[in-house]
Amino acid sequence: MKFFIDTANLSQIKEANDLGILDGVTTNPSLMAKEGIKGNDAVIQHYKTICEMVNGDISAEVISTDFAGIIEEGKKLAAIHKNIVVKVPMIKEGIKAIKWFTDNGIKTNCTLIFSAGQAILAAKAGATYVSPFIGRIDDSSWDGVQLIEQIANIYAVQGFKTEILAASIRNALHIVKCAEAGADVCTCPLDSILGLLKHPLTDIGLAKFLEDAKKFA
Ligand code: E4P
Repeated sequence: MKFFIDTANLSQIKEANDLGILDGVTTNPSLMAKEGIKGNDAVIQHYKTICEMVNGDISAEVISTDFAGIIEEGKKLAAIHKNIVVKVPMIKEGIKAIKWFTDNGIKTNCTLIFSAGQAILAAKAGATYVSPFIGRIDDSSWDGVQLIEQIANIYAVQGFKTEILAASIRNALHIVKCAEAGADVCTCPLDSILGLLKHPLTDIGLAKFLEDAKKFA
């Protein structure tokens, strides 16, 4: 399973990248706004910086909702760097645009996926990635990981090539569960990635080893 970081924060991207396990980055308009990025030039420059930092797919989301607008915006984003993946919402115009991008060799990430039916449609349009939002599904008292499992089964049975990018990850256990359920990629906040490191017995064991090491140092 590939690891993406789900942020537009450069220092968090650097920290995850320095671990040596980072395969890509996802952003969305809310994450960009959180970093105070304003204006078209600043947005493009920010994506350029991220592409220079991380050698992997970088999702950049369109904010248009009509076919022509999505295509125009997506072409501009794709021109920033070869690793840009155009992130398109799961709407009717979005599906048409994903098919157009697919036919024109531009990679896409179909975002805001909350059902298996949506994932089937995105795969039919040729999306490179689909992003089911695990955490938001859990928040609404459904089972986000179960959706990953269902999509993984359907894609395997049908031979779809679209990769399942588990998004809206809230904690380290989500990452483990998504790996079990067959996600191809997990896009996570830095805290959830670092959460994978933690186990109290590791801390207790290391403290004892270091204490004992003093006896022969
Ligand atoms: C990723 O591509 C999504 O935009 C993101 O994971 C959404 O996460 P949230 O539900 O924590 O906002």
